[in-house]
Amino acid sequence: MRRLTFRRPDDWHVHFRDGAMMKAVVPYTARAFGRAIVMLNLTPPVTTAALAEAYRARILSCVPEGVSFTPLMTCYLTDHTDARDLVAGHKAGIFTAAKLYPAHATTNSAHGVTSVETIMPVLEAMAENGIPLLTHGEVTRPEVDIFDREARFAEEVLAPLLARLPGLRVVMEHITTEEGAALVRAHAGRMGATITPQHLLYNRNALFQGGLRPHMYCLPVLKREQHRLALRKAATGGETCFFLGTDTAPHLRHLKEADCGCAGVFSAPVALAAYLQVFAEENQLDAFEGFASLNGPAFYGLAPNEERVAYEERPARIAEEIEVGEAGRLVSLFSGEAAPWSEVSEKRT
Ligand code: NCD
Ligand code: ZN
Ligand code: ZN
Repeated sequence: MRRLTFRRPDDWHVHFRDGAMMKAVVPYTARAFGRAIVMLNLTPPVTTAALAEAYRARILSCVPEGVSFTPLMTCYLTDHTDARDLVAGHKAGIFTAAKLYPAHATTNSAHGVTSVETIMPVLEAMAENGIPLLTHGEVTRPEVDIFDREARFAEEVLAPLLARLPGLRVVMEHITTEEGAALVRAHAGRMGATITPQHLLYNRNALFQGGLRPHMYCLPVLKREQHRLALRKAATGGETCFFLGTDTAPHLRHLKEADCGCAGVFSAPVALAAYLQVFAEENQLDAFEGFASLNGPAFYGLAPNEERVAYEERPARIAEEIEVGEAGRLVSLFSGEAAPWSEVSEKRT
């Protein structure tokens, strides 16, 4: 049985939502990760420093007793973002970064940015003040094939923006393609990327395995095998520009198993085990700590966590469903199966 000890990891891309859902999901992330970059695509979105501060307090109220966890907040950019509020919020330590959702690209992005041109003054202020831009990197024009939207965003939106604002630091969130990885690599140093467990484990066949699989549906959508293999190389190859970001995105079961199902894979309960499985399969467990615990903090200019955790290749059964108060239930990645790795809790040093 393989065993690995590493610094407590961080999750550089999570969705906690609010209310009963937040109460149900925060403990999973807080127990496994030291910090998390929290996405603010609530309804309505969290667009100001004051709203973000209040949201951070609500998150902290859901962290279990005795667990130390730091949520890092992002500002949801809109066509009307006030650059002064963003810069002041960053200086005050409320905002770690700002998030670009192209309007209508994904869940709760209706208030997103209609074009990068519209927010150029905000992006200039971010470049000047060292505020990283996090992107949901997909073009939204309906004529562009859904499987091509990320590659087109990299080529048409990000590459020109990187050239125009040399001081801007960018994280391409949840990359799913060779093209995404190549752009990040070409700008390593000022650019990083998060990679989710599902995009490392599955290709687009998983969406249609014996029938339609709503719990495999997220955005950007799963891609061809060649892209999955490119992502595995990026994640496990020891390159510091790639880091852990689960994009754990809870939606109630009945809203996923629906006529028009929501996009998002809820992975928080098993995310670390899933990543460990990938690194074990690639025989790259030595590179795990870099991806999970070092590269992200280095990009954001933060110290890595000091605490060490140990995991071993011991399967643990996981719940079929998780209750969300009266509202409904959640289905996690690996639901009804076993998580391939488990924490050795008594071995913490
Ligand atoms: C995310 C969500 O549900 O908020 N969904 C997803 O499929 N990834 C939004 C996002 O990260 O794009
Ligand atoms: Zn996204
Ligand atoms: Zn997300």
